Amino acid sequence: MALPVVNTEYLKEVDKARRDLRALIASRNCAPIMLRLAWHDAGTYDVKTKTGGPNGSIRTEEEYSHGSNAGLKKAIDWCEEVKSKRPKITYADLYQLAGVVAVEVTGGPTIDFVPGRKDSSVSPKEGRLPDAKQGVPHLRDIFYRMGLSDKDIVALSGGHTLGRAHPERSGFDGPWTKEPLKFDNSYFVELLEGESEGLLQLPTDKALLDDPEFRRYVELYAKDEDVFFKDYAESHKKLSELGFIPP
Ligand code: HEM
Repeated sequence: MALPVVNTEYLKEVDKARRDLRALIASRNCAPIMLRLAWHDAGTYDVKTKTGGPNGSIRTEEEYSHGSNAGLKKAIDWCEEVKSKRPKITYADLYQLAGVVAVEVTGGPTIDFVPGRKDSSVSPKEGRLPDAKQGVPHLRDIFYRMGLSDKDIVALSGGHTLGRAHPERSGFDGPWTKEPLKFDNSYFVELLEGESEGLLQLPTDKALLDDPEFRRYVELYAKDEDVFFKDYAESHKKLSELGFIPP
């Protein structure tokens, strides 16, 4: 599919879509699932074959039906409300913008957003996203395949400061933090405190404590929210631009 022409008109559309998304996310309290949508569209990237990535392909039935995308159809439909009003913006840009806005409106860092992503309707095969039941080597396999680093793995895992798991979607249950609609560093604080009544820690979350390189960042982010926000914003931008050469 064609590359969007990022001219003044396109930038205006992006700005309007950003406002629409702010209003929609605020009124439906749906920041967590919007962030998850952005991550799952982007997180299929394979740096070797340059396939997958933030290209809007998650809107295809083939891809949103993958087990790991359970529940995301709702977020896709909400984004469609914005797309129908602002048809010029690509799905790829729209989903990444939704992720950036989700972090912003819940009190997280400002993430630089560069528009111009191209849409694709070709879905990667199922199995590119991480499996929550696995550990350290799996996390590295998956994120290195995207071209991301150990620091990115830990910073981005902090996305679990928002939202919760749903038994009917993933088989897991509960939020990671006491305020799942607030973007802060509490995910790392809770992780270091260990299991706590009513809060969730996935095997892949706990794995961040097992590896010394990962743990270093967990401790840093639990202690210093400013550093977490700075690193998170950088890693999120990288995730949102996998395979994307800004025009
Ligand atoms: C939710 C796994 C990384 C953002 C979930 C759920 C699982 C999961 C099992 C629960 C889904 C449900 O039942 O609704 C993983 C694994 C990761 C990972 C194994 C590997 C490190 C990330 C990253 C981000 C992210 C990098 C974003 C930067 C979220 C959010 C939710 C979520 C916001 C909550 C969604 C909601 O409340 O509906 N994740 N995730 N996750 N994940 Fe992750």
